[in-house]
Amino acid sequence: MTTKNLHALVVFGFVLGLVSPSLATKGTAVYFTRYYPNACYKLPTGIKFVSLSDQYWDGGARCDKRYNVTCIGPRSQGSATPCTGESVVVRTIDHCVDCEQSIVLSKEAFTIIADPEAGTIDVEFTLLD
Ligand SMILES: *[C@@H]1O[C@H](CO)[C@@H](O)[C@H](O)[C@H]1NC(C)=O
Repeated sequence: MTTKNLHALVVFGFVLGLVSPSLATKGTAVYFTRYYPNACYKLPTGIKFVSLSDQYWDGGARCDKRYNVTCIGPRSQGSATPCTGESVVVRTIDHCVDCEQSIVLSKEAFTIIADPEAGTIDVEFTLLD
């Protein structure tokens, strides 16, 4: 395929909505239940939170920013099909220092997208703000 053909295909993909302009990041997620204290130093409203590992924390610049998180598969013990099929929008409240996983969701947020018994799951997440 020529570069020109490829370009036309990508443009066509955009028109059909097949190519998303916001690139989703693939990673892993677990949940936490200790929300305070947190590195963003504020009391968040709601119960859908995320704590970001070093790679995404960006020196605190992501505090309060929202991510759309979707479960895409199992990673550890538990169900082979942990995903509920739902996505959840979460707010960044914390830095997960030396975290093994990409992101750590509040239990409430995790439960929306996957079975909490699943342990670690594979996720796709997109920064919304
Ligand atoms: C979140 O991601 C899912 C899966 O890509 C998508 O269907 C949904 O519309 C997104 N929600 C928001 C608020 O961006």
